[in-house]
Formats: sequence, C-alpha cells, structure tokens
Amino acid sequence: MNVGVIGAGYVGLTISAVFAKWGHDVYCVEKEYEKVKDLKAGRIPIYEPGLEELIKETQEKKKLIFTTDLAEAVKACHLLFIAVGTPEGPNGEPNLGFIEQLINELVPLITQPKIIVTKSTVPIGTNESIKNKLIHAGVQSQFITVVSNPEFLREGTAIHDMCHPDKIIIGTDQAEAVKQLKELYKEINAPYLITSVAGAEMIKYAANSFLAMKISFINEIARICDAYHVDVTEVAKGIGMDPRIGSSFLQAGLGYGGSCFPKDLKALEYAAKQKQIDPHLLQATQLINDEQVSLYGQKLKESFPNFPDISIAVWGAAFKPNTDDIRNSQAVKLINLLTRKGCRIHVYDPVASLSLQDVTVHSSMYESIKGRDGLVITTEWEMFHTVDWTLISHWMKGKVVLDCRNFIDPLLLREHGFEYVGVGRP
Ligand code: UDX
Repeated sequence: MNVGVIGAGYVGLTISAVFAKWGHDVYCVEKEYEKVKDLKAGRIPIYEPGLEELIKETQEKKKLIFTTDLAEAVKACHLLFIAVGTPEGPNGEPNLGFIEQLINELVPLITQPKIIVTKSTVPIGTNESIKNKLIHAGVQSQFITVVSNPEFLREGTAIHDMCHPDKIIIGTDQAEAVKQLKELYKEINAPYLITSVAGAEMIKYAANSFLAMKISFINEIARICDAYHVDVTEVAKGIGMDPRIGSSFLQAGLGYGGSCFPKDLKALEYAAKQKQIDPHLLQATQLINDEQVSLYGQKLKESFPNFPDISIAVWGAAFKPNTDDIRNSQAVKLINLLTRKGCRIHVYDPVASLSLQDVTVHSSMYESIKGRDGLVITTEWEMFHTVDWTLISHWMKGKVVLDCRNFIDPLLLREHGFEYVGVGRP
C-alpha cells in the first residue's frame, strides 16, 4: 500500500520506518528542507535504538522516501497519517497550530477520496473538527474519512512497541477505513478495538493518565514506607503479583517526565475543567510528581551537614534510559534545584547532552565522581548496574549515594562502605 506520513518527529519517523519495513511504500513529509536533506542521507535528529538503521535500510530498498512536497504524498497515497506535534499550550490545552496549518495545506490537494488517520495525540473532538474544517473549506464530504488511530509508543522501545503492540485502537464508523487499516497492519498480531472517533481519542489520554497515576501512587506509598522504614520495592513486588494491579509502572523514584505524560495529563485536566468537572486524581498525580524533585533534594540535604557547600556527581539527565530526550526530565529539574541552592554539580549521561549554567558535564562516568562529596543516580541506565564500586569508593571523596530510581542494591553499596540513601529504601 502507499502510505503518506505527515511529520517526521518521534512518532512520524518510527511509523514511517516500520510501515516501510512491512513492505508498504511510504512518503514521509517533513516541512523543514534541512531535516529532509539529513533524513535522505540517513541521519536522524533523535536517538531511538534501531531507528537510524531501519530508515537507512528502507530507503535503500526504495520503500521509504522523505519529501517536503505534501502534494506528492497526497497524490500518491489513499491513507494519510497525521503525525505532527501537538505541544502543550499555556493553560494545558494542546496547541493544534500544526494541525490547523496542515488542514489549510490539504484543502486544495484533496480531489479524490482519502482516509486521514490521526496518530498525533489530540483532544477529544479534534478528528471531527478536522473533517468539518476540511468540508467547510470546500473539500467534498465524500472525499474525507477521518480516523483516530492513537499510538502507544515508548521512547527507547518505539520500534518494538510499533511491531508488538498489545492492541490496535481504530476510532471510526467507516467499515472501509477499518478494512484499509487492517490491511496496513496485517503484519501485526494484536487484538483490534474498533471504537467511536472520540472514544479512541479518549483512550490515549486515559491510558497515559492511568500510567502516570500508577507512578504517583507508588511514589506516595514510598513516602509512607520511608516513614515506617519499609522497603517500597518489596511492597511494589507484592502488590504487583495481583494481576488486577500488574507489576509494571510501580518503580518508585524521582517520578515521570518526557514529552507525553506531563502534556497529556494537563490536556485531560483542561478538557475536564472545560466541562466544569474537577479532575482530582489528575491533579493529585501531577502534584505528587512535582513534589518528588524537592523530596529527593531534601533527602540529599539531610545527608550533608554542610549542605549546600558540597560537590555532587549526578548520573543521568535523560527523562528515562535509552533515550537522549531531556524534555520535562525530573533529573534535570533536580540538577537545577541543587544548582540553585548552591551545590556544585557534575553530570554524566551516556547519551543525553546537557548544557546548563554552573553545571559541569563529563563524558566519563568515573571522571564525574572524582573528588565528589556524593553521588546522585537520577536515570536508571543499565550501565550503572556494572559499576566498579571499589574504584568509585577510591575516587569519590564522600560516601553518600542517593538512589533516585531504586536502581542499585543497598547491600552492595553498604558492602563497599557507602551510605545508601533512598525514599522507602531502609
Ligand atoms: C509513555 C507511554 O508509556 C507510552 O505508551 C505513550 O505512547 C507515550 O508516553 P514514554 O513517555 O516514552 O511513554 O516513557 P515511559 O516508559 O512510559 O516512562 C515515562 C516516565 O515515567 C519516565 O520518566 C520514567 O522514568 C517514568 N517511570 C516509568 C517511573 O517513574 N516509574 C515507572 O515504573 C515507569
């Protein structure tokens, strides 16, 4: 099948590469000429394991082309995926400017039936509004089918998540659109759920909100465990054995960041308030998450009588491992908090790059801890599991290690003479 993908960000690049891998002919449309030039040369602007190789491979097989020419893609493709950004607006309402712009550009190009599939996360009712705006602008209604097909890709595992989803949500009442999408997704072995358009839009927000809430739940439990000297990792393991709860997303720590959870919770909170509904749980989820940074800052302060006159190594800037993305990173928020208080901060991250005033960035993990009073682990990169703690204990001046991701075994650190500090980790 010919497939048009409009937008070459995290989602657009991933779905373009995977659709092409499945043998479809993909036209990925990107407005920025320089970005298209890089993509054609096989260079991608993001760190996503396996994506650069897959984009090179599918371009060599001529299954994927990058273009700035929207008309070319619209002419060639019956299926057109919208994968443009919907960034957070000032009051939490998503900014749909890129979608509005795209609608205007599409109007003169749609002269035969097209199925427009919204991959981007959009507020409830947006798909309906896209269709109405296109028709209002003069496109014949029989030429337009708009479908909501939300993605559930995680940064760092996006290709895997695209190829092995736990579900495929299709929001439409048009049987032909369902048929076309099932043909497109025929490589995937996953259950379909065909819903209303608005239902699919809401499923995306509800899913991310629930996952974020689960994280804030275990973080609140961790605070109570901390006061009672209970190990929250044991509690998480115990409750996770109940299939109704499930073991994932119960890793207590610094909390959630990234370009999705914070934005989507604010968007759903805004949508609720628009209908005079008080979104208590959504607000509490965000409040707990926001407090996590100061909670860990306080833990560090309590570990040093001479705080903030300390020099600290911070391992991790990315909002999670296996990505270079520092958007809404809790690690960066903690680094900023400690710097503001006057601590001298030395950061190491294996992939994410950081440039902050008064913060020293190191390219070596071991260099970053030389002479430091303490170490703070903020992102659970796998490599931190294979650290030579004997070497660390020789090079580090102090003995405090604050584990913000419950990632290191306290016994291992204590055996090496370190003082392990965590929340809910006695
Ligand atoms: C998320 C959703 O998982 C994905 O389905 C959606 O499509 C996009 O948003 P992503 O933001 O890439 O994906 O990362 P995810 O792995 O969900 O982690 C989100 C944040 O939660 C990270 O900051 C991570 O450190 C944190 N987290 C995750 C926890 O603090 N504890 C956990 O147990 C799990």
